[in-house]
Amino acid sequence: MRVDVAFTPAALQPAALAGATALVIDVLRASTTMVTAIAHGCLAMLPVAEVDEAHRRARGLPGALLAGERGGDPPEGFDLGNSPLEFTRERVAGRTIVFTTSNGTRALLAARPATAVGVAGFVNLAAAADWALAQGRDLVVVCAGELGTRSVEDEACAGLLVDRLLSIGPEATAGPAAMEAAGAARTYAKGLARLAQDAPHARSLTSRGRGPDVAACLARDTFDLVPLYRADVDKVVSTYR
Ligand code: MLT
Repeated sequence: MRVDVAFTPAALQPAALAGATALVIDVLRASTTMVTAIAHGCLAMLPVAEVDEAHRRARGLPGALLAGERGGDPPEGFDLGNSPLEFTRERVAGRTIVFTTSNGTRALLAARPATAVGVAGFVNLAAAADWALAQGRDLVVVCAGELGTRSVEDEACAGLLVDRLLSIGPEATAGPAAMEAAGAARTYAKGLARLAQDAPHARSLTSRGRGPDVAACLARDTFDLVPLYRADVDKVVSTYR
């Protein structure tokens, strides 16, 4: 199994996804929110690129919730934003959610050509590594980044995933970007809390009163599941280990 990392969706080589597994990471906050929603019993999330399209899709799905953000806040008419703390069992169990965010849902859609696509963050890091290994294919870790630029928290998460895969999968090998991510992640291996200072997006969320979101996103292995994006039905659904 060869593991590689794309630091932004634009860095993805479509050919690398063919026949491979992909894990999509947007630590702050979309992938953390998806893991949380699915762990709390959400039936399915429909990732959508644009706000207008999200409204349109939700109109065709009676009972569906509309969730996501632009500029960090829920667009007008949305039921939920992009804070993982909003996606409680009471709010999301048994519900279908149409979901659009600035970077995370776009990264997920970019990973569609892969054979299997999982959603990962620090909150399900161990489960994501085990799931990817069990797939038995090469793995491409796709970092959402921010508006086309790399983000330190996604790279740290990708790097810790690579590290874990290299230690639990004796036959796993890492490509150059995966080695780079693993090297950079070592600073955070013993404490993710530092990312609250080091990551500009974390500082920006905190300055807008969203410190509790940052803390939830930087918690490790809160959940033992990997949401799976099924491109054939265009839905993120639960995959328990
Ligand atoms: C995104 O998809 O760009 C993020 O999840 C932004 C956010 O923190 O809401």
